[in-house]
Formats: sequence, C-alpha cells, structure tokens
Amino acid sequence: MSDTDGEAVPKVPAVPAHPYPFTVLTLFPEMVRQAVAHSIVGRGIAAGRLDVRAVDIRDFTKDRHRTADDVPYGGGPGMVMKPEPLAGAIRSAREAQPAALVVLMSASGRPLDQATARRWAGHTGGLVLVCGHYEGVDERIAEHYADEEVSIGDYVLSGGELAALVVLDAVARLVPGVVGNEASIADESHEAGLVEYPQYTRPPVFEGHAVPDVLMSGNHAAVARFRRESALAKTRRVRPDLAARVVEVVVDRRRPSTPARPARLGRPRPGDPE
Ligand code: ADE
Repeated sequence: MSDTDGEAVPKVPAVPAHPYPFTVLTLFPEMVRQAVAHSIVGRGIAAGRLDVRAVDIRDFTKDRHRTADDVPYGGGPGMVMKPEPLAGAIRSAREAQPAALVVLMSASGRPLDQATARRWAGHTGGLVLVCGHYEGVDERIAEHYADEEVSIGDYVLSGGELAALVVLDAVARLVPGVVGNEASIADESHEAGLVEYPQYTRPPVFEGHAVPDVLMSGNHAAVARFRRESALAKTRRVRPDLAARVVEVVVDRRRPSTPARPARLGRPRPGDPE
C-alpha cells in the first residue's frame, strides 16, 4: 500500500493475522479437545483467532507399555511423572512453536492472575501448557524445560488439565478478536485491580428484591459513580488484600516524587529484582 507521494504506509492490523497458538501436553488429550470445543474458546478457534492442539505425552514414551510415571526417589506415596516423555513432548512442541513460552501447571507454581494472563496474551509466540499428573512431575522438567510454573490456586488438583484449561480460557479471551465486545473486558473483575461491580438484568423486582434505582435512572454519571463505589465496597468485603493494594497504588500516583512500585504491589514475577 502507498500514499500519494509513493511512500509505503504501514497499517497496524486490528487483529492478529495468525491464530494465537496453544499446545497442551497431557495424558488426557480428549479432555482438552472436548473442553475447547465450546463457548468463547470454541468460537475463537472456529473464527481462526485461536489454534489449540492437544498432544498425548505417552506418544513420547519409548517402552511398549507407554509408561509415563515411576516411583519417587527417597520413597513416599504416589508416583512421579518421568522426565523423558515430558522432555520429548516439550522439545517437539518447541520445534513446532519455536517462540512459545512453556508453562508447567503445578500447585507449587506462581499464582495465576489477570496481569499474567494479559502478559501471555501479548506473547504472540503462544503457549505450550504442560499438564502434570500423579503426585507431581520430576523437578528437572520445571528447572530445565519450562519457562514458567503456574498454579491456579492454593488447592491440589488430580491433574494439570483443568488448570491448563483455566489458563487457556483466561488468556484466549484477551487475544484480540476472540471476545466480540472488547469494552466488556476492560470492565471485568481484576482488570482495574478490583472485583467487578454488581450486574443486574430484567425483571426490575425478582422475588421481592429490587434492582438499585440509580441503574434505571438514565443518569450515566450517577451509574458510573454507583458502579465504581460498589466495586470498591465489594472488593473491601470479599478481597481486602486487593483493596489494600488499590489504596497503595492511589497513594503512589498522588506522589509524583515517589517512584512507581509495580513489582512490590503485585506478586513477584519472572524478571523482578531479587
Ligand atoms: N496441578 C495440581 N494442582 C494444581 C494447581 N492448583 N494449579 C495448577 N496445576 C495444578
């Protein structure tokens, strides 16, 4: 394309030209394939915005029993996922997706949050999500093969598949063109460090409980004020930890001489100073 004096005029595409690639390495590929066929992720795949592959880790075993686990060194209950099939699966995924971040699902990883989902959505090389099973994964995979290790909460799942699907959903909806109304994302819980304001729809009175009058007033400024205040009030009530951080951010912003402290306000991230 060129403008009138013949110079090239580059255009920034509104949505990525290529689908955002996810590869999920798992012992249960069907579980992943079925889950991603629905809702927003399913539509994102159908629209060519997302590309999701589920790969069976057992395809990278070398014995005829396709053994993926073994007993832990040092003893103890349960089995541990062997490193060789996982390493083979990750190497193969990296060949197909050379710029991907490899993320290991693990109850001992860093907690997933909206900022992490946003960072990963902006990583156009995509993600390789590695699902553990049994009592865990040989630590050498976390140390030498994964770029990051993430937990979706302080509880233990029987496998990483549900965690990978949570990550996939949280990231996919932030990929441009996946959610129809991008403005709705900006309003959601955690985007502004708060939980979302309460939402209501018809009927105006449900089982004796009325919708707040202000929402039906047509006064946009009053609606915006109500939403801001109720989001903050609900955050204080259900997530005092988040509310405290919002206050810190506001204090920092009001003091221009105070350097911004994003690393100390959020959870530690890869690349933070020690
Ligand atoms: N695997 C087992 N528990 C997990 C958790 N809480 N988050 C991520 N992966 C897991």
